Amino acid sequence: MDILSISGAAYLVAALLFILALAGLSKHETASQGWAYGVAGMSLALVATVLRVIDAGEATSIVVLLSTVAVGAVIGLWRAKVVEMTGMPELIALLHSFVGLAAVLIGWNGHLDAGSEADGIHRAEVLIGVFIGAVTFTGSLVAFLKLSARMKSAPLTLPGKNIFNVGTLVAFVGLTAAYVLEPDLALLIAVTVLALLLGWHLVASIGGGDMPVVVSMLNSYSGWAAAASGFLLENDLLIVTGALVGSSGAYLSYIMCKAMNRSFFSVIAGGFGIEAGPANDHDYGEHREISAGDTADLLLSASSVVITPGYGMAVAQAQYPVAELTRLLREKGVDVRFGIHPVAGRLPGHMNVLLAEAKVPYDIVLEMDEINDDLAETDVVLVIGANDTVNPAAAEDPGSPIAGMPVLRVWEARNVVVFKRSMAAGYAGVQNPLFFRENAQMLFGDAKTRIAEIVGALSKVPT
Ligand code: TAP
Repeated sequence: MDILSISGAAYLVAALLFILALAGLSKHETASQGWAYGVAGMSLALVATVLRVIDAGEATSIVVLLSTVAVGAVIGLWRAKVVEMTGMPELIALLHSFVGLAAVLIGWNGHLDAGSEADGIHRAEVLIGVFIGAVTFTGSLVAFLKLSARMKSAPLTLPGKNIFNVGTLVAFVGLTAAYVLEPDLALLIAVTVLALLLGWHLVASIGGGDMPVVVSMLNSYSGWAAAASGFLLENDLLIVTGALVGSSGAYLSYIMCKAMNRSFFSVIAGGFGIEAGPANDHDYGEHREISAGDTADLLLSASSVVITPGYGMAVAQAQYPVAELTRLLREKGVDVRFGIHPVAGRLPGHMNVLLAEAKVPYDIVLEMDEINDDLAETDVVLVIGANDTVNPAAAEDPGSPIAGMPVLRVWEARNVVVFKRSMAAGYAGVQNPLFFRENAQMLFGDAKTRIAEIVGALSKVPT
């Protein structure tokens, strides 16, 4: 058997391993198995690709390939090791931008390589690959800048933004048709520039609170960009892998849109959540404060407690004292459960990962929909570093930028204690009327320190 057939078979096995990886990653219990399948599939794909290049026998290609793989692997390992869990979404956005840029370069290479020799299909592939790649590239860069707070997260609202978006798509179709007839470099340049602008504009038009959906949508775009490159390079594995990433990213975006009550179409079109202005000028009255000691007493008198963690728990790394607090309260006969909002934190499953890391039992960690109806019967809710995901304005104020987003209805509980450092707004930049409710009290300070103080006070109380 020649190397081409062996590597073709290896590609097929790798594609199957990627499918098994996706299936495994969809559940807590099988996640590490899914991860192992993914690593095995990618290693196999890399080895098969290297073998193909070695077999072709071009010394320069071999040197270029091996050195780029080595440099990429070292940088990848280093970044993955140093990145904080809270910095994950921006790292992912940056990685998507690389996929987009690679698709643009492959498309350009396809043009320069084949020139006027290429047939119509190849020419269309070049422009489609460059278009999706360039949109993914600049879109992901903006997402990275917004997520890492290097760019304001407020949506950009240019006059005639929709006309620009639709006009760009129409121009792309026209330019592609012209390029298929005559592959002129000027047409390729025009499509590249238009797509770069479109990607930038699409994501810049989307407000901070809706970024999770955007990141998963860009994940999907990067998959389609890779698939387009696969067609150009006649690489089956790239086509299959790209389609897997593209469709699973699109499906995840759809699930998130449903969870946030957003229109799927508006996300793809760019710029939803822009109708409403900021609702921060409202006077909600005075807030009340509570100490760690009084919170401990409140918890001791409760028979049911629900903890709703958010991004602040991740920043404070408070999951370990939270797990300790849970253990102590359960020992004292208090029913403790967790309520997890689908977009709490900064990446899907963020809170679940942190709680699992701190060994909180899975069976008391419930999804928002599973716990929401029980909140009215709960004695104490501890809101630990969550803000947007427990904001009553989403349910009650149609003018709020987060109006319509399903939230944890913590304000229905008998008592709510909010752990945060100040009265500052959450990620979406919207004030939270919960903090001013009669049944709510603020426990200011770093969540980890405050919870450790409560744990200290509870440990002194005999069981
Ligand atoms: P946020 O609305 O982001 O609020 C987090 C709160 O934590 C802040 O108000 C902050 O208040 C507090 N905080 C920060 N550090 C703290 C510390 N050391 N100790 C105590 N509190 C601390 O959180 P959320 O409710 O989890 O909502 C998530 C938001 O992020 C949503 O708007 C969501 O759309 C967005 N988002 C989510 C994702 C995914 S996929 N989950 C991805 C990107 C964006 P202080 O500054 O006053 O302490």
